Amino acid sequence: MASVPLVEALRALEQKARAAVEEAGDAGDLERVRVAYLGRKEGRISGLLRGLGKLPPEDRPAVGAEANRVKGSVAAALDARAETLATDALQARDPVDLTLPPRGKWRGTIHPVSRAIDDIWAIFRSMGFTRTRGPEVDDEWYNFVALNTPLDHPAADEQDTLYLAPGLLLRSHTSPVQVRTMQKHEPPLRIVAPGMVYRRDTYDATHTPAFAQIEGLVVDEGVTFVDFKATLAEFARRFWGPGTQVRFRPSFFPFTEPSAEVDVKRQGSDWLEIMGAGMVDPAVLENVGYDPERYTGWAFGMGPGRVAMLRHGVRDLRLFYENDMRFLGQFA
Ligand code: PHE
Repeated sequence: MASVPLVEALRALEQKARAAVEEAGDAGDLERVRVAYLGRKEGRISGLLRGLGKLPPEDRPAVGAEANRVKGSVAAALDARAETLATDALQARDPVDLTLPPRGKWRGTIHPVSRAIDDIWAIFRSMGFTRTRGPEVDDEWYNFVALNTPLDHPAADEQDTLYLAPGLLLRSHTSPVQVRTMQKHEPPLRIVAPGMVYRRDTYDATHTPAFAQIEGLVVDEGVTFVDFKATLAEFARRFWGPGTQVRFRPSFFPFTEPSAEVDVKRQGSDWLEIMGAGMVDPAVLENVGYDPERYTGWAFGMGPGRVAMLRHGVRDLRLFYENDMRFLGQFA
């Protein structure tokens, strides 16, 4: 077969061309390789094919087919090398550490404190409460004064509260939402208001300077201490189970009278304080323009972080707020 030497020469050129492509260091080099091998006039493959006419006609198709294959193979090598060079150039400009392990796939879940809030909320919703919220930055009037707390009260002290500017602070509790809601709406009112609150607390197993609270407020005609106690006891039994014991300990808050700390106890565990609460002080009703002779109410401020601790047997509140995925992932 007369075609054999030409086919072999084509294959040899293919090897050379591919080697030249691999050596090309930039786009200019690549273009020179392309012209040298695939160029129509000067290209070495075209040059070789000029000998085609001397072949017997029956040998020409085989050589033509091989020539096309070689051209395609060299063109593909040129394209691949061009892409590699472009990626390398990008990488040099904006290096990515390809040795870093990939992040892998993980599915987000509800944070255990958010879940406690949602579950607490679901029970109050079934008892006719509306969910609302208020600003995390508030002023002294809403955070203290309207709540019957004089500004020389220790809670208003710079030692305890995070001030942003004179008179302006990160709310130290969700109770200002009581005031804002009563200003906007007439009784009857039944609301819960979850949100973050801020205090200059030491960071320890049961305190974090930023933590979640849920405020609750009921105001209507004829609301009594019995409604207050029965509703909270019902909540506790629905949340923790029918055997849950509830205890009201006398306490003091400037905005409730009488006031109580509410503790719950499940079988086999200790009493745990879950909220401050009490009958709304008539002075607060007066501050928002309600008639304290006509209306009475009760309120609570619950710590859903504490609730989540109790629920999951977690001993350190800080774990909930440090947001380490290895810890939080356990509650998925
Ligand atoms: N605001 C109080 C606190 O943060 C809790 C509370 C709310 C007490 C409502 C009574 C009524 O400690």
